[in-house]
Order: sequence, then C-alpha cells, then structure tokens
Amino acid sequence: MSLSGHTALITGAGQGIGRACALIFASRGADLVLLDKNPKTLDTVVTELREMGRRVVDHVVDLIELERLKDMAEKVHNLALIDILVNNAGFDRPGTTAKIDRKGFDEVLSIHVTVPLTLIQIFMPGMRAAGWGRIINVGSIYGIIGGKGEVAYSTAKAGIIGLTKSVAKECGHDGVTVNAVLPGLIRTPAIETSMAEKYKQAIIGDTALARMAEPEEVARVIAFLASDDASFITGTALPVSGGWGIL
Ligand SMILES: NC(=O)c1ccc[n+]([C@@H]2O[C@H](COP(=O)([O-])OP(=O)(O)OC[C@H]3O[C@@H](n4cnc5c(N)ncnc54)[C@H](O)[C@@H]3O)[C@@H](O)[C@H]2O)c1
Repeated sequence: MSLSGHTALITGAGQGIGRACALIFASRGADLVLLDKNPKTLDTVVTELREMGRRVVDHVVDLIELERLKDMAEKVHNLALIDILVNNAGFDRPGTTAKIDRKGFDEVLSIHVTVPLTLIQIFMPGMRAAGWGRIINVGSIYGIIGGKGEVAYSTAKAGIIGLTKSVAKECGHDGVTVNAVLPGLIRTPAIETSMAEKYKQAIIGDTALARMAEPEEVARVIAFLASDDASFITGTALPVSGGWGIL
C-alpha cells in the first residue's frame, strides 16, 4: 500500500483522524500538504513528520473562510500536483431541528460539504489531467442513520455522501476515484473533550465490537483507499464504525 510518488493534501491534520492520516501517509512514502486552523497542533505534527524525513508543507487557515481558502489552495495548486485529497476537517454544533442555531447549521454545512466541494473543484482538474487521483471524504455514520440532537451534523454528513457519489461518477473515466469513510465513535480530542461519558457508553452499547476505535483504525482505511490496492473502488461510503449503524 505504498503512497510513494504522491502528494496528499489533508485538512484538519493537527489532531485526531487527520493527524493519524498524516503520520500513516508519511510512513508509506507520501509527501504532504497539511491544513488546519490551529497553529500549535499543526506545528507539532509537522515537526514529527520532518523527523521522519518527509517533505511537508503546512498552512494555517480557517477553512470556512472560503475566499482565503481558495487563495491558499490556488497557490498550492500552482506549486505541486496534489493527487490525493483527504477532506477530513470537521466540527459539530449539536442541536435539535426545533432549536438549532441557523448560523451554526450553516457553518456545519460549510465545513463538511462546501469546503470539500471547493477543494475538489480546485484539485480535481489536475488529477484528471494526470489520469490518476484519489479523493477521500470523511463522513460519519450519522450521515446514514441520523442523530437525535445532531440535525446539522447528520444533514452535512449525508450531504458529503451525495457529493462523493456524484463526483465519482463525473471523474471515474479519468482515473480518479472518490470515496467516503463513515467513522463510528473514534477516540479523538473532539470526542475526549466534548462528549459526556454517558453518550459514549450509549454508542458503545450500540456498537457490535463494543468499543471505541483509535484514530489510526480510520486512517489506515483512508490510506488503503488512497493506494493502488483500492484501484477499482469508487463511489463507496464505507462504514468504519465497529458495527454501529449496521442496517
Ligand atoms: N471522532 C469521531 O468519533 C468521529 C466520528 C465520525 C466522524 N468524524 C469525523 O472525522 C473528522 C475528524 O474528526 P476528529 O474526531 O479527528 O476531530 P478533531 O476535532 O479531533 O480534529 C479536527 C481537526 O480539524 C481542524 N478544524 C476544524 N475546523 C476547522 C476549520 N474551520 N478550519 C481548519 N481546520 C479545522 C481542528 O483544528 C482539528 O485539528 C471530522 O470530519 C469528523 O466529523 C469523527
């Protein structure tokens, strides 16, 4: 599952699943462009990667500031062929349909749908011209089962599945595959700092494997989808959920 000779852009690479992707991609030979809004965590990851001897470029950017994102991504596009794009960055604004704050709803839609669309629009043409490309979008099991009190997040994560399948149909004949992974409950800083233990236990109770996963367990699947071993897989939305959400 070598990624040697490829350059991957990973969003939200400062911690959690994005950081795990950066480390696994680097260990498999990829060069990296890493984006995050948190300069401190991003810097720590970049230091780790440079110690591994990898070429890595990082940009601190708040991705939902779309004009800034476009400027930065165009500059990256002019410097290097990004042939692997991992749309991972995300955040949640919990709330029910009756009470959800509209600004929060729009921000969640933006980070999980509009930002991936924007990056795909910028980097997909280069992949198509090269005749090889990989786009992996990080969804969520909530995108297929919905979540009580998670109306914005579930809607956004359903949206990224539709985007994944549509783009896969558009660019498959040019050698570009587009897939989504749908994590279940993963032990990342987002979950460790903001989810109450009783909610974690309820999800674990609904998970066939009866545990949370480590971020590397998702990142290894993303690395597989980015590799030539996944050469005939496109348009999938692959649960990495330990059996949470089996339909
Ligand atoms: N952890 C889970 O249980 C779980 C489950 C399902 C899906 N996911 C999805 O996995 C992805 C990664 O989640 P995680 O758990 O690793 O989260 P995390 O909060 O631990 O890490 C997310 C990273 O994205 C960055 N980020 C967030 N908003 C940003 C913005 N506007 N601009 C730039 N960077 C931004 C953060 O700074 C952070 O470094 C997300 O899309 C999330 O929805 C996570």
